[in-house]
Amino acid sequence: MLIPLAVLAALPAAHALVGEDGVGRLPALGWNSWNAFGCDINASAIMTAANQMVNLGLKDLGYEYVNIDDCWSIKGVRDTTTGRIIPDTTKFPDGISGLASQVHDLGLKIGIYSSAGETTCAGYPASLGHEEVDAESFAEWGIDYLKYDNCGVPSNWTDKYNACVPDGSSSQNPNGTCPDLANPAPEGYNWTQSNTSVRYRRMRDALLNQNRTILYSLCDWGNADVNEWGNATGNSWRTTGDISADWSRISQIANENSFLMNYVDFWGHPDPDMLEVGNGDLTSAENRAHFALWAVMKSPLIIGTALDAVSNDTISVLKNKYLVDFHQDPVIGRPAYPYKWGYNPDWTFDPAHPAEYWSGPSSTMGGTLILMLNSGNDTATRTATWSEVPELKDGSDSYQVIDAWSGDDLGCVEKGHSVSLGSHDVSVLVVKGEC
Ligand SMILES: *[C@@H]1O[C@H](CO)[C@@H](O)[C@H](O)[C@H]1NC(C)=O
Ligand SMILES: *[C@@H]1O[C@H](CO)[C@@H](O)[C@H](O)[C@H]1NC(C)=O
Ligand SMILES: *[C@@H]1O[C@H](CO)[C@@H](O)[C@H](O)[C@H]1NC(C)=O
Ligand SMILES: *[C@@H]1O[C@H](CO)[C@@H](O)[C@H](O)[C@H]1NC(C)=O
Ligand SMILES: *[C@@H]1O[C@H](CO)[C@@H](O)[C@H](O)[C@H]1NC(C)=O
Ligand SMILES: *[C@@H]1O[C@H](CO)[C@@H](O)[C@H](O)[C@H]1NC(C)=O
Ligand SMILES: *[C@@H]1O[C@H](CO)[C@@H](O)[C@H](O)[C@H]1NC(C)=O
Ligand SMILES: *[C@@H]1O[C@H](CO)[C@@H](O)[C@H](O)[C@H]1NC(C)=O
Ligand SMILES: *[C@@H]1O[C@H](CO)[C@@H](O)[C@H](O)[C@H]1NC(C)=O
Repeated sequence: MLIPLAVLAALPAAHALVGEDGVGRLPALGWNSWNAFGCDINASAIMTAANQMVNLGLKDLGYEYVNIDDCWSIKGVRDTTTGRIIPDTTKFPDGISGLASQVHDLGLKIGIYSSAGETTCAGYPASLGHEEVDAESFAEWGIDYLKYDNCGVPSNWTDKYNACVPDGSSSQNPNGTCPDLANPAPEGYNWTQSNTSVRYRRMRDALLNQNRTILYSLCDWGNADVNEWGNATGNSWRTTGDISADWSRISQIANENSFLMNYVDFWGHPDPDMLEVGNGDLTSAENRAHFALWAVMKSPLIIGTALDAVSNDTISVLKNKYLVDFHQDPVIGRPAYPYKWGYNPDWTFDPAHPAEYWSGPSSTMGGTLILMLNSGNDTATRTATWSEVPELKDGSDSYQVIDAWSGDDLGCVEKGHSVSLGSHDVSVLVVKGEC
């Protein structure tokens, strides 16, 4: 039994995939096919997304990965001679390598998907036991990013013990504990020795054997205490179960991930799953809040909406320059931290009401970014009080402030700034020099 706060205590001395080209140092920016299309993918859907990343100005802001998710190969077989996974040429007439060239011609990078099991989540061939040959295929095809899922795991590769993964979705998990966990690991158990961890390291080693940089995105849904070994294994690691395009799930995941901010730094990024901005019934406010929370947590920002049918409202959220600048800070690796929970007492684990007040330093903007969330169902006021903000409290009484959504310069603001926020909306402030 473990509470999320306890895991903050002891961070391992870990090394990630550190390369001279800098790939994976900052959290990834890109697009992935799953949240938009699920299994219904083909080369034209991927190229449409790639072209739209250029046309919509996303590439200019730094969005670079165009990622194919599950369902790109032929089911049930590998090449009998080479042992390789066979791309589905009905969906991808030029193979994956042909598509990769076209994506590269746009100045973008391309990602692919497999699983640390025998089959992917949709039942296609996966890489456990085939790590080396699959990594060779990916490198040869020109792949730049691998999302590595956790489906199709044979029983002899599962773990002896279960780890606490607070999903916050059940009343059985008050405050992120796992009281009903079957077969829990003994106190102090070293999850770096788990079979799950071994499965993910095998692919890391196979990727490192290739003469090509491939960003490694682990997707074990937070299992086997991945926060303890994720940074030594990949460039990012999923911390939770899957996201869906509804506020209650986004709020649950934000709450879980908010307790993991001490694991964020250069080269390694906890990943609360790909963006649903623009999908489902999310309101404009919810799209803003989802994007802003993911950006200030420095999670990978992987767009999951169909970019040929995207609204201007959604694009303006995905292109918020202040948030992308904060996310891609080349000098400061830490994310924003919650400085006050607001709705709840500090450090409360509450799936419906994550921390509402966050702040963090920005080298590019020369100041502090502040996020305020209204997690409630009704319009309410939220106030950033300078004397409460860790980065500002020892400074002056007055600061120059910019509203990051409108871009409005709010001038020299004394003591703090109040906003009226609709349900599930966020305010984002850029607090610059003293005045
Ligand atoms: C992750 O590993 C990198 C590379 O060794 C290191 O710079 C970074 O500080 C680590 N992250 C954390 C949270 O320890
Ligand atoms: C390609 O995939 C997209 C997205 O699912 C779909 O709309 C389109 O009809 C598909 N094209 C072909 C030729 O199957
Ligand atoms: C890994 O799986 C094997 C069974 O194949 C099991 O004997 C072993 O205990 C497992 N190791 C861990 C650390 O869970
Ligand atoms: C599971 O079985 C396979 C096939 O026999 C074997 O290669 C693998 O090492 C086993 N896994 C573990 C953790 O023992
Ligand atoms: C946990 O296991 C790993 C892999 O065997 C080892 O490198 C590390 O030192 C262990 N950590 C502790 C705290 O014992
Ligand atoms: C590795 O790749 C680089 C650039 O693609 C190439 O110049 C170099 O010859 C390759 N090295 C080996 C050992 O294949
Ligand atoms: C969306 O923005 C584009 C480019 O600024 C503009 O041409 C178009 O009219 C806008 N569409 C809507 C529905 O506002
Ligand atoms: C959750 O834990 C925090 C910190 O230990 C505590 O202050 C808070 O009251 C707890 N909340 C609930 C609902 O148990
Ligand atoms: C807010 O709305 C949600 C969804 O309608 C509902 O489940 C929840 O109970 C409401 N919360 C409060 C505090 O009224």
